[in-house]
Amino acid sequence: MENLMEKMPRMLMGRELEKAMLSLPVYEPAICKADAGTRLTALDAMTDIYVPSQMSCEIYSKVYLAMLHSLKKKHTKNAIQQGNQNHRKLQGMGYHSVLGGSDSFSIIGPSGIGKSTAIAKSIALSGGNQIIATKNPYAQIIPCINVQCPHDCSVKGLLLAILSQVDVLIGTRYEHLAVKDRASIDNLIGTVSQIALNNILLIVIDECQNICRNKGGVNLVASMTQLINSSGVSICMVGLPETELFFGKEMQLARRSVGLSYSALPYDEYFIQFCETLFSYQYVTQPSKLTPELIELLYECTGGIVAIVVSIILEAQQIAILTGKEELSKETILLAYKERLKNVQDFVKITPKKRSQTSSIVYKDIVDIPQKSSVDETDMDILVTEIIDKARAEGLDAVELLTGQEILVEEENV
Ligand SMILES: Nc1ncnc2c1ncn2[C@@H]1O[C@H](COP(=O)(O)OP(=O)(O)OP(=O)(O)O)[C@@H](O)[C@H]1O
Ligand SMILES: [Mg+2]
Repeated sequence: MENLMEKMPRMLMGRELEKAMLSLPVYEPAICKADAGTRLTALDAMTDIYVPSQMSCEIYSKVYLAMLHSLKKKHTKNAIQQGNQNHRKLQGMGYHSVLGGSDSFSIIGPSGIGKSTAIAKSIALSGGNQIIATKNPYAQIIPCINVQCPHDCSVKGLLLAILSQVDVLIGTRYEHLAVKDRASIDNLIGTVSQIALNNILLIVIDECQNICRNKGGVNLVASMTQLINSSGVSICMVGLPETELFFGKEMQLARRSVGLSYSALPYDEYFIQFCETLFSYQYVTQPSKLTPELIELLYECTGGIVAIVVSIILEAQQIAILTGKEELSKETILLAYKERLKNVQDFVKITPKKRSQTSSIVYKDIVDIPQKSSVDETDMDILVTEIIDKARAEGLDAVELLTGQEILVEEENV
């Protein structure tokens, strides 16, 4: 019998792990002298930057250990017994679970903090893309399958997605056969359990918040529990914080939702280092230095959400290049925040007293931001609601009233 443990790559720790995860694209300072088009194209390199955080390292070790744990169970006496039981189930005979639950876990955190990216990196470093082949008994083991929770929480959809990935990775035709035979959900769970038992170490299900947004969510979790129990495979559920509330409602789910929970970055060493790294990628003609004031501004505008920090610096540089300001400064960062990141502004949660630099006083300092009217947007909303209510109560035409107040303006046909 081969020693399966030797087939996994070595587990990395500390500095070695950070080095392996770090991704810094090539940057030539001479690019600042190139023409605007070249610089705008080169700017895209910023999306390839990856600076590992404590979260990335924790996710890596969790993913690695889950794979290892699952690998230990492969080709054991219990696994063979479980295989027989799964076969009995597929034949419609009596069934009981032998392997029991494995170490499944969840990774919970707000959107944009880098969960999916950290998982993808961890999977790659744990040898997730290399099939482990064994000779005696002959088997092909897939270290990790990474699927997304279907938007409608369809159990069948998820199981077919798993089969389809297995097919691509080891050249089988399970999905085709399952679709052709119009396999029932119960049958599909049996088939996937059997395949997971023999061929899969870890299944990652991303975007699990769909579970609590959809009626079918409970069903999906129940079928995943069944899959875990009858295959010994580890399952990692990834989702937004609301998923945790859903898991917490039932003990059976709570036990399986044990895992990692994160929030946005605090204002600390890592955040500063992260900003410094991003600032070393400047594509404007007058590169600037990162000052403590700018770091605070960046934290204020992004609330410590990694994805927004990257976007705001990227957008600010684009604006600087396109408008000819050619400097990554407070002015361009605020312009990017106000003009390009409108949609995320409501999601950035920071304490109100910290909103000093992004408050309207600062906007007034910037001449370029057009101030449409003296009434701000919330006041405007209240005004519109009041007018509509008045129109309803008095049976008047709301459109006419709004036009009269110059809130609604008729556009000329072009
Ligand atoms: N440590 C990091 N260094 C640099 N960039 C990062 C880092 N972590 C995440 N990013 C960037 O942030 C963006 C969002 O990351 P990701 O999609 O992993 O977030 P998420 O937590 O999965 O969000 P969602 O819940 O919306 O799926 C990506 O473009 C990624 O490149
Ligand atoms: Mg994600």
